Amino acid sequence: MKGCSDDTGGLDQAGALRRMMCSRHPDETARHSPHVIAVVSGKGGVGKTFLACNLSIALAGRGHRTVLFDMDMGLANADIVLGVEPAWTWADLVRGRRGLEQIVIEGPGGIDFVAGGSGMAELADLSEFERRRMLNAMEQIESRYDVLVMDCGAGISPDVLSFAASADTVLVVATPEPTSMTDAYAMIKAFAARRDLTGTVPVEQGAIGVVVNNATARREARDTYERLADVSGRFLHMLLTDFGYILSDEHVPLAVRYQQPVLLSYPRSSASCCLLAIAGRLSREIGGVEERQGLLSRVMRLFL
Ligand SMILES: Nc1ncnc2c1ncn2[C@@H]1O[C@H](COP(=O)(O)OP(=O)(O)OP(=O)(O)O)[C@@H](O)[C@H]1O
Ligand SMILES: [Mg+2]
Repeated sequence: MKGCSDDTGGLDQAGALRRMMCSRHPDETARHSPHVIAVVSGKGGVGKTFLACNLSIALAGRGHRTVLFDMDMGLANADIVLGVEPAWTWADLVRGRRGLEQIVIEGPGGIDFVAGGSGMAELADLSEFERRRMLNAMEQIESRYDVLVMDCGAGISPDVLSFAASADTVLVVATPEPTSMTDAYAMIKAFAARRDLTGTVPVEQGAIGVVVNNATARREARDTYERLADVSGRFLHMLLTDFGYILSDEHVPLAVRYQQPVLLSYPRSSASCCLLAIAGRLSREIGGVEERQGLLSRVMRLFL
């Protein structure tokens, strides 16, 4: 990442943000900040939204104050899976149409939720005033939560890579299908390319985790993870972490149909047991209240 000296000299957004950051006291960049988890995938339809919603609920159940952000700019639909009807989205906050209190709504299972949609694309094209408003809102969010889960869109778009870059943990969701594995590998390759370009890994080495979804058996999930980890290690020198698997379970589509997260509607289903195991693993990573680089600084990276 670039340092604090703004050599662009122009009025570009990155320069404006850098100046804003540099005007802050050094202590302000390291503060209590939520552990950010980005749920991504190469191929679409592999279960990101299902995982992001239920994982958020599982983490809230373990006592972490959790907020879920729908960051899918194309097909934002976490509200359907959660069974909530948000009136406003993140875009309404950025454009000043609504305040933080109105866009953060109560979701099921003790989580808070911020709906997304096409408005997220507006982040790349904000006025100075709107940027300040967004950053102020982010600062308020920082102090309220222990965990921020981002449900991202499918594929390797620049925005997904940027969201992943701002995360502490990236969860790449893959299924045992060859097409899903190939696309998951392409996504990890995009992280590696970014590392080769900038000299840094988007997130810490080993912070790229894999969740194998829709597996018919534990063994199949294990094989899928090992094949991904093997090729990523050998050809990209990328270290992956195994965050677990979720079995294919008929209760999952049933829960979606009734618009109730599976963890709440079928808590004893095999999918729910697998979700709780993943949450347990993540919970250990999250730990207690930590001092880490503030969200504000991470958002900076979206513009650099
Ligand atoms: N473990 C599972 N067992 C059975 N069905 C599942 C499982 N996981 C997900 N599904 C089903 O797969 C479908 C796609 O899930 P989901 O919408 O979460 O995928 P996605 O990755 O978010 O898709 P998109 O890329 O479009 O955002 C849903 O209908 C869901 O019910
Ligand atoms: Mg989705």
